[in-house]
Amino acid sequence: MCEESKKRVLSCIQPSGMLTLGNYLGALKNWLNMQDEFETTFAVADLHAITVRQEPAKLRSQIYSTYALMLALGLDPERSTMFIQSHVPEHAQLAWILSCNTQFGEMARMTQFKDKSAKHADNINVGLFSYPVLMAADILLYKPDYVPVGADQKQHLEIARDIAIRFNRLYGDVFTIPDAYIPKTGARVMSLQDPEKKMSKSDENLNSWVAILDDKDTIIRKFKRAVTDSEGGIYVSEDKKGISNLITIYSAITGKTSAEVENEFSGKGYGDFKLAVGEVVADELGPIKQRYDQIITDKAELERLFREGAERAERVARKTYFKAMKKVGFVL
Ligand code: TYM
Repeated sequence: MCEESKKRVLSCIQPSGMLTLGNYLGALKNWLNMQDEFETTFAVADLHAITVRQEPAKLRSQIYSTYALMLALGLDPERSTMFIQSHVPEHAQLAWILSCNTQFGEMARMTQFKDKSAKHADNINVGLFSYPVLMAADILLYKPDYVPVGADQKQHLEIARDIAIRFNRLYGDVFTIPDAYIPKTGARVMSLQDPEKKMSKSDENLNSWVAILDDKDTIIRKFKRAVTDSEGGIYVSEDKKGISNLITIYSAITGKTSAEVENEFSGKGYGDFKLAVGEVVADELGPIKQRYDQIITDKAELERLFREGAERAERVARKTYFKAMKKVGFVL
């Protein structure tokens, strides 16, 4: 397919600590699958990370490790533009213009803002409030057709579309209206300890989430301890959230439908099933960890790659940003 005719894809991930199996199945695995068919741009969203308080030295190391993990997954800086958000100043600059075209009421109804401000009641900062506007800028600068994300980001995608539609109507066409690309299986991986809650690295119960970089024994142990129910059957049901979550994970990794998984384990016990899920997850993540362990040792190479990525990204971002500047009446 010729470069010109490829549709565009963009997504970002926060460098907030260890990335989880939820990040992998909800987003990263799709990024990789889209790399061949689309023109892809991926960023480490460090500007977003400081909406909650971060320890600077730790944040710095997490930015390197998130970028290294993207490489370890198989994302290829030759084929994808891969950079660090703060290296391309147009993100923050466009966010300002968009902020002045976004209503307070629109931000106030974002569920993630409500959740996060409840969790960080001592630091309900303005950045946390206007975070979706920055995310809209991340997206709109690169004119993507699709944005691969997990289900928790759907509301933010919708607001990005609303902002773009309104801007285009007021000032003339600048932005492409993006569609969310949410996987059919794995869009919402739940906690292994409380399947009512999303799997999240900020969960204090370490058994509730699997890190992409966990070793095999740890992964298997966490799955063995996964909370299920006492009924016994292995099938998807509203009343069996724990087992349903494990079936989703197994399906997302193996590509089997949930009916096929139910068949495969019909008559088997929870113990066998949990072990099987742990094993397929560990087998999938193991090679990523191996590559990561090597890549993270070469800091100079990482720096070379993310600097080059930022230059490439900025060439695209600057064009869109200048266009938006002109449309609102700024002088170039
Ligand atoms: P973040 O960093 O929290 O998560 C990165 C991606 O992982 C997905 N995800 C999940 N998917 C399924 N199950 C889960 N338990 C799970 N947990 C996380 C998220 O949906 C996301 O796709 N605001 C974004 C980062 C961002 C962004 C952007 C994304 C900044 N700018 C522009 C797309 C486009 C975030 O905090 O994701």
